[in-house]
Amino acid sequence: MTGRTITFEIFRCDPQHPNDSARMQTFELTEAPGMTVFIALNQLRKEQDRSLQFDFVCRAGVCGSCAMVINGMPTLACKTLTSQFKSGKIKLMPLPGFELIGDLSVNTGKFMRSLSERLQGWLVPAGAERSFDAVEATMEPQTAEMIYESERCIECGCCVSACATAQMRDTFIGAVGLNKIARFTLDERDGRGPDDFYHVLGGDDGVFGCMTLLGCADACPKGLNLQMQISYLRRKLALNPDRII
Ligand code: SF4
Ligand code: SF4
Ligand code: FES
Repeated sequence: MTGRTITFEIFRCDPQHPNDSARMQTFELTEAPGMTVFIALNQLRKEQDRSLQFDFVCRAGVCGSCAMVINGMPTLACKTLTSQFKSGKIKLMPLPGFELIGDLSVNTGKFMRSLSERLQGWLVPAGAERSFDAVEATMEPQTAEMIYESERCIECGCCVSACATAQMRDTFIGAVGLNKIARFTLDERDGRGPDDFYHVLGGDDGVFGCMTLLGCADACPKGLNLQMQISYLRRKLALNPDRII
């Protein structure tokens, strides 16, 4: 038995070619059992248009590379089954809010690197000088569990694309940045507190620029509890007696 025909409408544009302009291109493909949008794109590139650009690495929802807007929702192509779209029509757009490389490929790496540098997204041990010989400090299992939860972020960028504030203000650190700060604020081994992140957290680029409509949480393909992280940071700042907020 042959599968149904799926129609793909795919955003095309190659900014490397100055004369190229943005357009939508239609492709048709026969659906196979268990087909994901990623598998379909691979097949389209192999059989119909070798110039089609999109990203992937793991094909298992782990690397975050294949994020794109699928029928209006930022999500992962490798985790999205074509069968969930009953109409058989699938529209693919690149993630908004990131530099376009070409077609469905965007430069999330550049964004995430600069965010990490801005927030110093690495462990800064309290007090003592760093030593590779020092025994790692222990932590309560409950804290480890909470840190593990925020560490599940794969930096796919879906939360940034789904965030109205991030689309209006490109300096807003978004749910991915807020989650990153919450992770280090929770970590007892890290010497920094909310005050050390105040320059980004305490203004419109941080929690007080967030409208709390939670498009980020709706779009997060890893199901991170971003609502909890945002309210945790708000509470931390508001309870800080040295600040009048
Ligand atoms: S918080 Fe979720 S949506 Fe945002 S980058 Fe991390 S995994 Fe992706
Ligand atoms: S809740 Fe905040 S971070 Fe999440 S989408 Fe809304 S404005 Fe963006
Ligand atoms: S290819 Fe890695 S998350 Fe989809």
